[in-house]
Amino acid sequence: MTKIAVIVGTTRRGRQTAKQALWVKNALETRKGVEVTMLDLKDYELPFFDEPVSPRYNPERTPEGIVKQWLDALTEADGYIVVTPEYNHSIPGVLKNAFDYVDFQMNRKPSGIVSHGTVGGARAAMHLKEILSESKTLPVPEFVTLAHMSDVIDEQGNLAEDVKANPYGPQGALEGMIDSLLWIAEAFADKRNSQRN
Ligand SMILES: Cc1cc2nc3c(=O)[nH]c(=O)nc-3n(C[C@H](O)[C@H](O)[C@H](O)COP(=O)(O)O)c2cc1C
Repeated sequence: MTKIAVIVGTTRRGRQTAKQALWVKNALETRKGVEVTMLDLKDYELPFFDEPVSPRYNPERTPEGIVKQWLDALTEADGYIVVTPEYNHSIPGVLKNAFDYVDFQMNRKPSGIVSHGTVGGARAAMHLKEILSESKTLPVPEFVTLAHMSDVIDEQGNLAEDVKANPYGPQGALEGMIDSLLWIAEAFADKRNSQRN
């Protein structure tokens, strides 16, 4: 099984991002051989990062509690899809803080970005791509940028049928990104497993 973690990138009361994350989850669950985990930052109440040494330069690091749970959940996955809104032309602080904890848990695994905002969250997506690169995960080239999604998606993450049917709409973009992510996730997992033997 290829394990894909969907990271829900904000925790605000009344957030729209939860619906979009469910939409991503639903799409992944139609794929064979894929196990989906939701990593909702609401479930990982991480304090503001305050470790004395940068995580990737700290071989003595022994994370505990919720930080360990967050990092272990990232370790478990073969790839990631990060669902983020745009806040002040970037990603939410809570999402950036979560990535500040990462050392090598995401190493040699791909990640996809789903963003939303008035211009599809494009500025947040570009910032996130840079952050993901430094988190040592490989961002796939396909971006899913969503504008005005809130009007066409329900609480369970179902898109309105006419929107879903448009091959050049959000569903088509998401499926293309998932194709790319899974191809790379499977290839990288094979390589990681062969090196382990
Ligand atoms: C603090 C804050 C800042 C925002 N800044 C931007 C912005 O810079 N660009 C944009 O397109 N939308 C911006 N928005 C609109 C959000 O992208 C939109 O409300 C989206 O639904 C937020 O996701 P959420 O509902 O999951 O929190 C902002 C919203 C908030 C709450």
